[in-house]
Amino acid sequence: MKNKVALVTGGMGGIGSHIARYLADHGAVVAVTYFKNGDHSAAEAWLREQKSQGYDFKIYYADLTDFDATEQLIAKIVADLGSLDILVNNAGITADATLVKMTPEHWHKVIDNNLHSIFNVTRNALKPMLDKKYGRIINISSINGQKGQFGQTNYCASKAGIHGFTKALAYEVAKKGVTVNTVSPGYVKTSMVEKVDEAILQDIIKQIPVGRLAEPAEVARAVAFLASEDSGYITGSNFSINGGQHMY
Ligand code: CAA
Repeated sequence: MKNKVALVTGGMGGIGSHIARYLADHGAVVAVTYFKNGDHSAAEAWLREQKSQGYDFKIYYADLTDFDATEQLIAKIVADLGSLDILVNNAGITADATLVKMTPEHWHKVIDNNLHSIFNVTRNALKPMLDKKYGRIINISSINGQKGQFGQTNYCASKAGIHGFTKALAYEVAKKGVTVNTVSPGYVKTSMVEKVDEAILQDIIKQIPVGRLAEPAEVARAVAFLASEDSGYITGSNFSINGGQHMY
């Protein structure tokens, strides 16, 4: 990945920051987006922390639910860094509630952040890839987009949508040097999973044959593989990384 330019959306999050680091470890120049409700000082603190560990990321504030903002984001990254070769659509949120209690706001917020954002970013990121006849797009879905989960109709719908998006786009760009794949993590040690009620989480862990949560690095390594030049024959596929919790 030497000298390739990568963008990791939500790259300051639990899985995202590990993905950003793995891509950088493999020689990529890595841009990450953040939203953090506009808390730029938190983003700067993250950047300083990464710098102290030897990582030199470029950070960009962006509301990925806004098409025009993503158009400006991609234009800025290409202007700053020279190209865009790898896109990891990682940004995502949860707003869990059973459907009878779910508000329209929670429904739209999750679909906007998890699915519409992928259209917005990818639609704009594709052009520089097609121009170069090279690209790697990795969309982060979830085990729950495949198997469903109690209390997550919005999240599961958004994550299931990613599979259709991946496969349709993979067809469209297969002959143009661009691969498009999905990675579906199971329950990973992140603040998102820590929000789940402890008793419920313990029940979930009992359903994982490997018997534990995933480490974020275990997801990041697979993403780095799909992002490499070596994975040019893998497209339209899904990598499940869930400790055997859902096999199909
Ligand atoms: N299966 C069946 N029944 C269940 C259940 C389950 N998994 N969980 C709760 N129930 C039952 C309760 O026993 C209770 O039944 P009674 O009414 O008969 O007593 C009823 O459902 C409770 O219903 P409520 O609407 O009151 O639910 P709640 O408000 O207490 O909890 C919830 C809803 C917060 C969504 C909770 O179910 C929950 O946290 N579920 C887990 C959600 C989850 O896994 N989130 C993952 C977040 S991390 C992530 O998403 C990353 C990733 O990609 C994996």
